[in-house]
Amino acid sequence: MTSHRVEPLFSATEISERVVELGRSISRDYPSKEEPLLLVGVLKGATLFLADLIRAIDRPVEFDFVAVSSYGAETKSSGEVRVLKDLEAAVAGKHVIVVEDILDTGLTLRFSYLIENLRARHAASVKLCVLLNKPARRVVPIHIDYCGFIIDDVFVVGYGMDYAESYRNLPYVGVVRFAEQD
Ligand code: PRP
Repeated sequence: MTSHRVEPLFSATEISERVVELGRSISRDYPSKEEPLLLVGVLKGATLFLADLIRAIDRPVEFDFVAVSSYGAETKSSGEVRVLKDLEAAVAGKHVIVVEDILDTGLTLRFSYLIENLRARHAASVKLCVLLNKPARRVVPIHIDYCGFIIDDVFVVGYGMDYAESYRNLPYVGVVRFAEQD
């Protein structure tokens, strides 16, 4: 691993306060408790965010996960994002919220056709919730319905996000600073 350090960006408290706000917005937007709500996390980065978000939602909610291949931007731009693990939950008639830790280029969501696929399975509605939005890097336009924080073009880790599989367990979000950036 290249020599680096991690600088705090959002503390555990800031994250948890924002997640509570997102949970309140979602609870408010789906007031009828009879309407089924399904949160779909994209592995692995979204796991911690999804786990906290569902506990901040004050109405019945189901959750599930999908896994898509992660090859880096070059391969993704050729359209090669494979679905490695599909949903186990039924989708028809449910209000679905796709949950992502970070939206960067948008290529993962675009080329996994996750949102289109959920619509084709007759979800009642499909929305997108991201903890971090990095608009500077966007290659394809993607509409975000719920956003935790907008960030600059920095390499973030922690709270589910990794650098070569490290740092996912940090309770806060940090920025990776490489030695040559000093
Ligand atoms: C991250 C993140 C998104 C994707 C966003 O996943 O969880 O799925 O990248 O980037 P994009 O908008 O440029 O496509 P990653 O591929 O790092 O896998 P992981 O969640 O398993 O860490």
